[in-house]
Amino acid sequence: MSTTYTLGHEDSEVRRLLLQGRVYRADTRHALLMAGLKPGMRVLDVGSGPGDVSFLAAELVGPTGSVQGVDAADIVHLARSRAAEQRWTNVTFTQSALDELVLEEPVDAVIGRLILMHLPDPVAALRQLAGLVRPGGIIAFAENDIATVRSYPEIPSFRTVTDAVARSFESLGLDISFGPKLGTLFQEAGLGIPRMAVGAPMGGADDIDLLTYAVEIWRLVYPIAEGLGLTGGDVPTPDEMLPVLQREIAAARASIMMPPQITAWVRVR
Ligand SMILES: C[S@@+](CC[C@H](N)C(=O)[O-])C[C@H]1O[C@@H](n2cnc3c(N)ncnc32)[C@H](O)[C@@H]1O
Repeated sequence: MSTTYTLGHEDSEVRRLLLQGRVYRADTRHALLMAGLKPGMRVLDVGSGPGDVSFLAAELVGPTGSVQGVDAADIVHLARSRAAEQRWTNVTFTQSALDELVLEEPVDAVIGRLILMHLPDPVAALRQLAGLVRPGGIIAFAENDIATVRSYPEIPSFRTVTDAVARSFESLGLDISFGPKLGTLFQEAGLGIPRMAVGAPMGGADDIDLLTYAVEIWRLVYPIAEGLGLTGGDVPTPDEMLPVLQREIAAARASIMMPPQITAWVRVR
């Protein structure tokens, strides 16, 4: 199976994806509603990972609709067991690389979150995926903008770690400003000018999910940051980071903003 996903599915990455599901739940749900997901639709969620976007879509399409999640990695097993645990009856998961995916009939919508940025040719992927949607159906993708993560007021340890995370992602060949490019990519794929929305999780010292999410991203890339010489000195290790962040954010009465999520969608002609 062909995949260029560089972040792996070690325990820390799965933990991060599950937290990400919670932290971005409201923004993703809002974007899918704006994109036009409705009861009764048949939806394909590509790069479904542990299944959070599929479950949100399943809620919106209801029992008369259905969602098929697709992922190249065996994280589909985790998605399937979560679906059983949460008693979803309208969601299935298939293990397949996107470029090997065959559907029996076109769907009403193809959706995906944080998948295009991992593909070698996102424009070709958009073209291929639009071909799986019935005329008048929806294609909707969400990607983030790591470059605009910030705190107000500036928290030095958060800034240092955020910059190290950005440089680590870049060293993996990932584009840290991918989200804002969605409009261009849709047009290059011949899909026309998309509608777009942006939402970012933001909070203060008592938002443990948000702060833990920041820590888990740091844990994920820490070995890479070490290799780049971006750790040591005053830079907190992942195990030290949560109390440091909580203390500094509380003392400054600050708020942190994690990567804004940008969603673009069009009706397929
Ligand atoms: C960052 S995760 C996002 C998971 C999920 N969409 C979410 O938002 O929680 C990206 C997922 O895309 C999958 N993936 C990457 N390249 C793929 C490909 N070519 N075909 C299918 N899945 C792929 C990875 O295995 C991974 O589970």
